[in-house]
Amino acid sequence: MSNYGHKIRHHWVNRDSYKDLLATLERGGSSLIGLDIDRLSSRDQMHAGLLDATKTFVEWIDLKPGSSVLDLGSGLGGSARFLASACSVAVTAVELCPELNEAANRITRQLDLEDKIDHLCMDITAPCDLKTDGFDLVWIQHVDMQVANKPELYARAAEHLAKRGRVVWHDWLAGSGGPVIWPLFWSADGEISFLADREEFTDLLKSAGLEITRLEPIPDLTSSWFEKSRAGLSRVISKMKSSRPASSKPAGMGSKLQAFEILAEEVDNALLNIREERLIPFFGEAVSR
Ligand SMILES: C[S@@+](CC[C@H](N)C(=O)[O-])C[C@H]1O[C@@H](n2cnc3c(N)ncnc32)[C@H](O)[C@@H]1O
Repeated sequence: MSNYGHKIRHHWVNRDSYKDLLATLERGGSSLIGLDIDRLSSRDQMHAGLLDATKTFVEWIDLKPGSSVLDLGSGLGGSARFLASACSVAVTAVELCPELNEAANRITRQLDLEDKIDHLCMDITAPCDLKTDGFDLVWIQHVDMQVANKPELYARAAEHLAKRGRVVWHDWLAGSGGPVIWPLFWSADGEISFLADREEFTDLLKSAGLEITRLEPIPDLTSSWFEKSRAGLSRVISKMKSSRPASSKPAGMGSKLQAFEILAEEVDNALLNIREERLIPFFGEAVSR
C-alpha cells in the first residue's frame, strides 16, 4: 500500500464508528441478533445524511431492480447492503482498507446478503478486470473528495461501465467561498482531502471520456441532515456530561465523550463550510461520451 493509502487506512480504522462496530462484531453472539440495515445505519453509512441520504440518492438516480452496481470506496458496506436488499441489485463493493472491507464482509454474511454482494479489497484507481461486460451503475458516495489521483479514478469508472451505463456521485466539490475549515469527518487537517471544483471536475471527466448529464448541488438538504445529527449529538454530550461527577465516570467514558465532541466539531465545520460555500455537496451523474 502507498504512503497515501496508509494515511487513509489510519484515518478510517481510528474512527469511533468503526471501532464500535468492530467491538459489536467481536462480541458476536446475542449482540449480533437484531442487526439490520436500519439499526446499523448510524455506524455503517459513512456519509452525510446516513441512510436517509442513500434513500434520497437512490430515488434521484432512479435505480432499476436487476441492475449491476459497482460501489467504489464502499467503506463498511452500508450502502451496498441497502442497494442489494432494498433495490434488488447485484453489487461489487470495492474498498481500500482491509479492516473495513473485512468488517463489511462479515456484516454482509451476517445479513445473508453474500449472494448479492462481492466485497473486494483494492485501490479503486488501479486497473483491474472486474466484469467483462461492465456495470450498469458505478456508485461513488463520499469517496471522490478523498481520492488524489482523479484522472485514474475517472478512467477506471469509465472503463467499468456497461453500454449505456452511468457513473453517479453523492459527493463534495470545492466551492468558491475560500479555504475549507477543518476538521471534517474525512480529514482532520486537509492532508487526505483532494477536492476538485466544478470546472476541474467537468474537465477531468471529459478527459476520461465521460460527460456530465446532471449535477445538482444539495446544500440545504445536506445541512438539514447535519442539523439533525448535531441536535442528537448535543443531547448525548450533555447527558454524558451531566450523568455523574467526573471522578466516578466508568472507564472509557471520557474518551467516548471526547469522540462525540470531535464529531460535533466536524458537523459544525461541515455546516459552516456549506453555509459559506467553501464546500458544495452534490448529486451527479455522467455517461460515456
Ligand atoms: C467517507 S468513506 C465512504 C464509504 C462509503 N462509500 C459510504 O458512503 O458509506 C470513504 C471511503 O473511501 C475509501 N477510499 C478512499 N480512497 C480509496 C481508494 N483509492 N480506493 C478504494 N477505497 C478508497 C476509504 O477507505 C473509505 O472507506
